[in-house]
Amino acid sequence: MKPEISVVDLRKYFGEVKAVDGVSLEVNPKSIVSIIGPNGAGKTTLLNLVSGLIKPDSGRVYFRGRDVTGWSPAKLVKLGLARCFQISNVYDTLTVLDNVRAALHSVRRAAFSLKSTYYSIQSVNEKAKEVLELFNLWDKREKTPTELSHGDRKLLDIAISYALAPKAMLLDEPTAGMSIREKRRTVDVIKMLRDKLGVTVMLVEHDLDVVYEISDEVIVMHEGKVIARGKPEEIKRVQAVREVYLGE
Ligand SMILES: Nc1ncnc2c1ncn2[C@@H]1O[C@H](COP(=O)(O)OP(=O)(O)O)[C@@H](O)[C@H]1O
Ligand SMILES: [Mg+2]
Repeated sequence: MKPEISVVDLRKYFGEVKAVDGVSLEVNPKSIVSIIGPNGAGKTTLLNLVSGLIKPDSGRVYFRGRDVTGWSPAKLVKLGLARCFQISNVYDTLTVLDNVRAALHSVRRAAFSLKSTYYSIQSVNEKAKEVLELFNLWDKREKTPTELSHGDRKLLDIAISYALAPKAMLLDEPTAGMSIREKRRTVDVIKMLRDKLGVTVMLVEHDLDVVYEISDEVIVMHEGKVIARGKPEEIKRVQAVREVYLGE
């Protein structure tokens, strides 16, 4: 299978700190790959490099076989690689519905013509409803993001990224700060992205129960390097993982 995302010998140092130190990995299409590791392992830096938020010192990033090293996040979104930002995707002054509409309009702007305006608006409305129903947010469409619970707000952020029609999505700690019920909903949404919507997901996640439940592959980072990778059952058994990650 041709990988959707592949990273080759990626490096990013911040002064003395080797945040990402020669990482290579592959993410297959329509799979969920989780990056785990202790604080400071380089997980967020790795996602930032893949999403184009920062540029690597060396190494390459490929998306669907294309070398996209150093591409801007906006250009990557157009190609189908979307990163969920915790808040910055969401406009607090717009309703939930208008947030999703705005995202949909931004995708369709390229194909915009006066003649098709009416149809475009209509199809955006239909698509917005579809997206909000998928993410269980349709009932909250008239609220502003500030009126949502923490969990709903994060789901809205994922929904907005999904509205950008990505083939792959990057998520940084999607369940952070969530209650058990909110975590359950988020887990179901991430599985839905893969199983129903055919989206490839690469995520950083702290909660190992979540990781083991949803992942096709788990990649363990420590001090900027990949120290283990494998299926959840395999990773559970690796002693080195327990040592660095769980402090055993
Ligand atoms: N912009 C930055 N400037 C300086 N150091 C940074 C920067 N971003 C991350 N780091 C450092 O790089 C290392 C990896 O950070 P990070 O990728 O955030 O780890 P993780 O997400 O695994 O907790 C840490 O030591 C962190 O302090
Ligand atoms: Mg992090």
